[in-house]
Amino acid sequence: MTDNDGEADLEARLVEQERFEPPAGFVEQANVADESIYEEFEENWPHAWTRAADMLDWDSEYSQVLDDSEGPFYEWFADGTLNASYNCVDRHVENGDKNRAAIQWEGEYGETRTYTYQDLYREVNEFAAALRDLGVEEDDVVTLYMPMVPELPIAMLACARIGAPHSVVFAGFSADALATRMNAADSRYLITCDGYYRRGDPLDHLQKANDGLGGVDHGVDATVVVDRLGEDGFGHDLKGNQHDWDALLAEHTGARVDPVERSAEDMLFLMYTSGTTGQPKGVKHTTGGYLAYTTWTSHAVLDLEPEDTYWCSADIGWITGHSYIVYGPLSLGTTTVMYEGTPDFPERDRLWELVEKYAVDVFYTAPTAIRAFMKWGSEFPERHDLSSLRLLGTVGEPINPRAWKWYYKHIGDEACPIVDTWWQTETGGMMVTTLPGINTMKPGSAGPPLPGIDARVVDASGEEVDAGRAGYLTVDRPWPGMLRTLYQNDERFVNEYWQEYSDPDADEWVYFPEDGAKIDEDGYITILGRVDDVINVSGHRLGTMEIESAIVGVEGVAEAAVVGGDHEVTGEAVYAYVILEDGYEGTDEMQDAIIEGVNEAIGPIAKPEKVIFTPELPKTRSGKIMRRLLEEIANGEELGDTTTLRNPEIVEDIQVKVSD
Ligand code: WTA
Repeated sequence: MTDNDGEADLEARLVEQERFEPPAGFVEQANVADESIYEEFEENWPHAWTRAADMLDWDSEYSQVLDDSEGPFYEWFADGTLNASYNCVDRHVENGDKNRAAIQWEGEYGETRTYTYQDLYREVNEFAAALRDLGVEEDDVVTLYMPMVPELPIAMLACARIGAPHSVVFAGFSADALATRMNAADSRYLITCDGYYRRGDPLDHLQKANDGLGGVDHGVDATVVVDRLGEDGFGHDLKGNQHDWDALLAEHTGARVDPVERSAEDMLFLMYTSGTTGQPKGVKHTTGGYLAYTTWTSHAVLDLEPEDTYWCSADIGWITGHSYIVYGPLSLGTTTVMYEGTPDFPERDRLWELVEKYAVDVFYTAPTAIRAFMKWGSEFPERHDLSSLRLLGTVGEPINPRAWKWYYKHIGDEACPIVDTWWQTETGGMMVTTLPGINTMKPGSAGPPLPGIDARVVDASGEEVDAGRAGYLTVDRPWPGMLRTLYQNDERFVNEYWQEYSDPDADEWVYFPEDGAKIDEDGYITILGRVDDVINVSGHRLGTMEIESAIVGVEGVAEAAVVGGDHEVTGEAVYAYVILEDGYEGTDEMQDAIIEGVNEAIGPIAKPEKVIFTPELPKTRSGKIMRRLLEEIANGEELGDTTTLRNPEIVEDIQVKVSD
């Protein structure tokens, strides 16, 4: 990262400092401040996990914490029953907190809506009743393709109430991506929205949703459309089985639906995420373990209290939003903030304006956002009173020490601990991070594994590496929030996550998250990034294969290789190396067509930063594209060994094009 305003502000003292103690004022009030918690989990494992399960209200108690008889198909709290919607809504109404704000929503234009727990209770019930009338039954997968509007968490909780798993598709994804996910989940119901605002303009979302529906192979029984744009809408008529959200709620005014008693191991939701192959993976999370895990980590790591106003600036379309905008905070009865727009509209102080306005206590965001704030300069946060903040968090990608320190000083005023939380869609919740009331913080290193989490750094043969050496992150014991399988694909589940380091004959199962890492003498883990073909752009996981197949789908393209190059703000950026068919030329129009092809197949987040036309790709003698080399070229780094290449002469040619 180059020098810039924010960094110039950092005092020399901070630049040098490598260790930061949790501020005393924070420790005094922390939810978890006794370090014996680590030992307690070690000594009482897996029984210690009842601590998480006990944070929930169960309809019938579980008798066994962990059933590990069929690893890696672990079950947690298996014979207990509960309902997630009851735990996130009803119990707070019953406990006398009905008038506390559950969701504090802010639209891009400053429009606001506050839902108390009572309001949430009413709307979740009414929408649950409406879903039932539309024919949704227990275990039917309902797809939610919605932007950041309050109807999204309401729909999720309504699904949970009737035991219908939801599958949320990020609104920025394309029509094709929606169709792929609906097909994969055999989902016959869609909840969507007419549109939403982005940097002042209304976007036509329903057109995309309708295009996506056109690509669904099976029948779709019903679609519900939220009217977000009103007068600014695009005038689409709702067709036969399409229903207006408000009209449905009006028809069900006052309706109440008893929360369905779900087994702890029943599916709560599916979340599709990118992997090594082109087909997204349908990560399955269950009701008991996932909810216990997100509730516990929200309490222990985010330090949330029911009285807090908490803001996670992620989008609910990703796992971070599921776990730490919706389920964890609402299960604890906290006020969760939702913001529709972008951080720089109308101005670059928009987020800080909201922190001040709502007196946000805890703020959780991504390093990519922090790097952007740093670039914009500290004058934007300085315009606002941020003294309500007590704790800051980051997630999604490694945070470099400079960005960490900027966040610490300019947002936290050196008074808030920062939790750098490593986890994944698959893990359901946070896995590696400091506990903010206990551990020393070391910028750039996420911290030790959480109590009860057996994360290690190993070499290729599975042996633990020495402090300071790079290796691979593994998790040796199961945990309640873990994915249970990939939807209707147990085989792929075992192959993707449990192949590398497990010993099935000895019934020893080791989870492999496909991240590189190193560990220091204090057991702190620094994440080095993905070791598979996944690119992390602004904390969003994109599969190179998915992008490559989108590019190859463009007329005139013969072959494509996509890698992640370093990027100052987004962490990584998509570099696409493209070979054209004879008769086609690498013109600006061709480049635009490729970018548009990716936009259509996946969405704007996957658009290549750079398209490099080349007559050949560097390949090994066995014909494999040498991606490592393409990455080095993208980053302008010195090239590693090229002696195994079949066509070494092409390398220089490509280097020249990239540096153009
Ligand atoms: C990366 C997001 C470094 C990592 C919750 C992981 C991180 C992938 C961190 C999962 C962190 C997430 N430090 N890297 N604190 N948090 N990652 O599934 O490569 O969208 O495997 O889940 O993000 O991305 P996913």
